[in-house]
Order: sequence, then structure tokens, then C-alpha cells
Amino acid sequence: MSLDIRAILQGFATSAGLSLDGASIRRSSSRFCLGVEHGDYNGTELFGVGTDRFIWMAFKPNDVGRLRLYSGNFEQDGLIDMALDAIPEPGTAPDSWSRFPLGVAWILKKKGYNLRRGLDAVLYGNIPGGGMSRSASLTLNLLISLAEVNGIEFPSQMGIVDLALAVENEYIGSPCGNLDQIMILFAREGMGTHYNPVNRSIRHVPLGEGAPDFQIMSLDTGTIRPGLEKSTYKIRHTECGEMVDLCRGPFGIQSLGDVRSEELFRAILSRFGTTHPHLCKRLDYIYHAQLRFERMLLAWSEGDIKTVGEIFRADGLGLRDDYQISGKELETMCDIVRTIPGVLGERMLGGGDRGASGALVLSESEAAVRSAVDTAYPRGHPEYAGNYAVHSCRMVDGIKTLPGWE
Ligand code: GLA
Repeated sequence: MSLDIRAILQGFATSAGLSLDGASIRRSSSRFCLGVEHGDYNGTELFGVGTDRFIWMAFKPNDVGRLRLYSGNFEQDGLIDMALDAIPEPGTAPDSWSRFPLGVAWILKKKGYNLRRGLDAVLYGNIPGGGMSRSASLTLNLLISLAEVNGIEFPSQMGIVDLALAVENEYIGSPCGNLDQIMILFAREGMGTHYNPVNRSIRHVPLGEGAPDFQIMSLDTGTIRPGLEKSTYKIRHTECGEMVDLCRGPFGIQSLGDVRSEELFRAILSRFGTTHPHLCKRLDYIYHAQLRFERMLLAWSEGDIKTVGEIFRADGLGLRDDYQISGKELETMCDIVRTIPGVLGERMLGGGDRGASGALVLSESEAAVRSAVDTAYPRGHPEYAGNYAVHSCRMVDGIKTLPGWE
């Protein structure tokens, strides 16, 4: 997709009455998780890539001590204009996208950073909602840019992840984990990002040579997902915590990700299988997804996308049947594309309930996927006929600065 992003941002700046003279542009990507989905708050390793649906932000400092921001995606909200010394406390901010810049300023101040300069910014994004981490992309973009105009240098990249996560957890009220922030901040073109929570390390894994030409496709169901705090996500988060509480004493685990041997897994099932069957199902998904994760990483590094796809599909069945975090529209998308030769794997993406599913597809089958979805999805869900969308994505760098205005 080729967008004249400078012209688009300039157009919104004119509507907002903001000048972009001397402004820079920062682009932040979306992300596609290849595993372990829902592993971040369960202490598992993570793997994913940055994808080419973005938020672009033209920005520059101002010396009036204010956040003045305009989003081309929320024009009805008009210009957000707030003094840096009057940032509302959590829970008292207006219910609009402005909670993100306010949350970023709030967390920086809370951590003792001195915000001497304000920020003038114009934003526009094309990341579909639900499944591709729009909120993490926005938060990171704002955080890095507000820090930059104030000359703030963070001690480490992982420190940026933690701050962005704190904005979501403490200010927005979302119970999310750190998967999205990690997969966007560290994303590199043509590579996967492998995170190990044990030592908080990042390793970039190039896609192995000889991989067939394939597409990462996002199948946006057109549904609107309420925040994670209002969805099944929060319930699963709590359930996983309950299961850890049950197992901590007798089995010595600190997270479900600590269950790595068949012996331990079986012992937990025989102890709690009848008393807490639903909690055992959550563990069942996490345990088997972790086992598959090792094979998936190896397959990726060997360019064996067929196996990566098979594991992606197996994860999807676990998320649907054991973790029970999918939703009917998400599964309709999966059921449609699963029938197509050249679709290597498909499953729901991200937080669950609603939003987008994803598929790994041989490039020669991309047109067939689009045509099948166009035929079948509106028949299954006529209420979303005007809203669903199919995106084919490339792997890209997560955070990038583009030429701005002189
Ligand atoms: C959402 C959350 C992430 C992660 C995923 C599921 O995207 O924001 O922290 O838990 O769901 O893998």
C-alpha cells in the first residue's frame, strides 16, 4: 500500500491549525504474534514480528508546556490540548484516545522525568482495531517522541517496554501483558523477535533461507472490541492466577509457564482435574503451546513455514477449545480460510472475543483467501458486511523515523 503520508499528515495539521514546520515523523508498526499467544502474563517465551500497518506521528516540541495533538482517525475529538502541569490522575481522564498521550505524560512525570517542553503532534494510523496492537503502537510512539523532545534518555530498551506497559496497566486500566510492546519496539525487517522472560533477553531470528513466498494475513472481522478490561481476557488472566495459587504450594510453580515437563503437567491434572476442570484446560493450552513453541522457532529459523503454519493452527485450536478465548466471528474467519489450499495455518489473534484472526498463506493463494472471505464472511455475518477487511502484511522494523519537514 502506498500512502503519501506527509500529505495526509499535512492535511490534518491544517484542519487542526497546527504548523508542521520543523516537525519529524515517527512511524510505529503493528505486530503479529507467532507464539505463545497469551503467554506474556503466563511467563512463557514469546515470538513475533512487526507488520506494515502503522501509526504515523508528525511531531515537534513546543515551549508553551502543553500537549497539543490531533488524530486523523478521531477527527470528532478535535484538537487535544492539555497543560503538562494539569495532567488528570488515572481514572479521571476523558474517555477518548487522549487518554494515551495523557497517560504517557503522567507516567513520565510519575517516574521523575522532567517534562520541560510540550508536544505538538498530528497522528494518523491504519492498524485495524483488535489483534494487531494498535494501543501499544500508539503508546510507544507517544512515549519515545515526548521523551525525545525533552532530551530524556531511557536507561534501557526494556525500560521503554515497562513504561509503555505501565501506561496501559495503570492509566488506561487495561490488564494487558508486555507482548505487544516487545514485539513492536524490537521488530526488525525480515526477522522474528524472540523474548525470554527468564533473563529478559531479546534475540532476532532471521527467517531461514528457502522459505516459500508467503503472506502474513490479518482477517479483521469488523467487530468492535471493548477494552481488555471488559472482556474474557481479564477473566482468563484471573483464572491463570488462581491456578498458580493452587499449584504454588504443592508443585512450587510461580507461573503456568513453569509447567514444562509431562510429569508435572500430569501430576497437576490428576490433583485438580475433577475439582477445577476449567483451570486445567487453561493450563492444557499453555503447556502444549509451550511445547510447540520450540518446534516453531526451529522451523522458522529453517525457513519451514509449512510447519510454522501447522503450529499456528494447532495453537488456534487450543485457544478456541481449551483457553476458550476466541469468538464466533473470529472462528468464522478461520473456518473460511482453513478450507483453502495454500493456507498453512490460521487462528484468532491477540486479546480474543472479537477483533481479527490471522493466517499464514502461500502468496499464490492470497487471491483465493480474499475471494473466499468476500463470499462467505458477509453471508455468515451480514451485520459486519460493510466493516470487515483483509490485510496482507510484510515484516518491518517496529519504530522508524522518516524524513519530516525542514
Ligand atoms: C493482547 C494483550 C497482550 C497479550 C495478547 C495475547 O494483545 O495486549 O499483552 O496478552 O493479547 O497474546
